[in-house]
Amino acid sequence: MSVSSPVETTSFVTAESTGDWWRDAVVYQIYPRSFADANGDGEGDLAGVIGKLDYLRKLGVDAIWLSPFYPSPLADGGYDVADYRAVDPRFGTMAQFDELVAHAHDAGINIIIDIVPNHTSDQHEWFQKALQAAPGSPERTRYVFQRGKGEHAELPPTNWLSNFGGSAWQPCGDGWYYLHTFAKEQPDLNWDNPEVREEFLDILRFWCDKGVDGFRIDVSHGLAKDLREPLRDRPDPTKMYPQAADGSDPMWDRDAVHDIYRGWRELFNECQPAKYAVGESWTPFSDRVFQYARQDELGAIFDFSLEKAVWNRDEYRHTVERTRRYAIEAGTAPTWVLGNHDVPRIASRLGVPSGTDIEAWVTSDGTEPVIDPAAAARRARAAALIMLGLPGTAFVYQGEELGLPEDFDLRPEELQDPIWERGRHTFKGRDGCRVPLPWTGDRETAYGFSGSGKSWLPQPAWFADYAACLQSDDVNSSLNMYRKAIDLRRCMVRCGDDAALEWLDPDLCGDDGFGWKLPSGMMVLANFSAVHALTLPSEVKMLLCSRADDDHNADSHQVPPESTVWYICR
Ligand code: NOJ
Repeated sequence: MSVSSPVETTSFVTAESTGDWWRDAVVYQIYPRSFADANGDGEGDLAGVIGKLDYLRKLGVDAIWLSPFYPSPLADGGYDVADYRAVDPRFGTMAQFDELVAHAHDAGINIIIDIVPNHTSDQHEWFQKALQAAPGSPERTRYVFQRGKGEHAELPPTNWLSNFGGSAWQPCGDGWYYLHTFAKEQPDLNWDNPEVREEFLDILRFWCDKGVDGFRIDVSHGLAKDLREPLRDRPDPTKMYPQAADGSDPMWDRDAVHDIYRGWRELFNECQPAKYAVGESWTPFSDRVFQYARQDELGAIFDFSLEKAVWNRDEYRHTVERTRRYAIEAGTAPTWVLGNHDVPRIASRLGVPSGTDIEAWVTSDGTEPVIDPAAAARRARAAALIMLGLPGTAFVYQGEELGLPEDFDLRPEELQDPIWERGRHTFKGRDGCRVPLPWTGDRETAYGFSGSGKSWLPQPAWFADYAACLQSDDVNSSLNMYRKAIDLRRCMVRCGDDAALEWLDPDLCGDDGFGWKLPSGMMVLANFSAVHALTLPSEVKMLLCSRADDDHNADSHQVPPESTVWYICR
């Protein structure tokens, strides 16, 4: 088998050399409200998660990341936290949380929880007190209150816009406004205030003591606003990300934010073993993104480039190379993300026409993309084997292992995402990837989600076709492909101290493929062509093929159109 000489001479620090469990872990994201409902109220809960630990153990994941389960009015699906040290009764009790941690650890699964430090809920005790307090009071300086502009303070203090639409300033009725970069029910905290900093260190300590293994940091690039008076307008307020990759934006990705994380890292490193932390920063790619992953800061950062990529060889190859390069330089492991609770599911997303802007969800001619479902399903499986075939931390969003498509058919009156209302009904929002999971084909039990048959978002009838228990018995199912891949990955992709890749010979990959050889000897080859298969030499042994349908069997030496294969030399 011919491989080109290694393009990468440096290897990144691996789990074996550091003892860091997360460096090549598979992390499964649970959106608790939509995962499994044990108490029958139509919303998922912690007892539901406990009931599915065996499923997760069989899937082979190393950790689960729980999206917020804290007391919350759910103005933004729980990312509006009213109490950071408690469990919302609708999701269970603290005793159940403790039980979950203990059972998960018994099953060899680590627990990562979500921390939401940019904003609280407007129902948080601090914000309620702030509303009642006078301008300039200590209660108000925990948040960002500003007097409005104009003769009667009738104008917002700046042109800053909310990520969910409209001004980021909510009038209080007395000439003062408070900042909310998301929904108005999510007032931004003032991270210049030492009390805020102390409070979050204390919250993190609380959960470290509870035995969690790591944290996912929401809006990690947003904490340190430039609040020097007078506040500055943004050159183009419609851009919800830093406008120049130099820390000059008054809202996003400012240098000061890194001090906060250095303090957090000290705390995390006091624990044995040190706690994991991964930041969430939706910014255009720049080397600044990986500053969050420096080892004296969070240590890891999501790279959403694959989530934004359309199905295109060059885009994927470029993304993979770039993410690896930057991760290596930052001394961290690359993170691979195909989906989460904020974007249309990959099993639909990859069926959009080429040229679609995934973030804006528009095609090159400005229309809404029409999805090719069969292509999307094939490509999603191929993308999964790309992701799972790469050293680094792979994140799997609940339902991704089932090949579950996006539900685009929710009716306006069913939508709960604040984006729908705040965006004046221009964008349906993110509910389509948050519909409760199908576990069985039984409609009476909300497809196994809830014994009561209730489901906080309605599930379409076609969810039955994707049910986990049906897939479990089908050797060719998406679920079984994930199980095999995660199992193989454990020995073939977790590759000791040297995680360097050798890119496969372009002759082998043709015009539409790319691939790599791992130090274990396993090779990964992805074929992006919709029509042509690639042919492998006869001496190789196939380990896994993303297209195990009737037309393509894993024993052949073909890399079918729109597929990824894993193989070794005999
Ligand atoms: C990112 C979260 O993933 C998203 O769901 C949420 O709406 C925003 N942060 C605000 O917290």
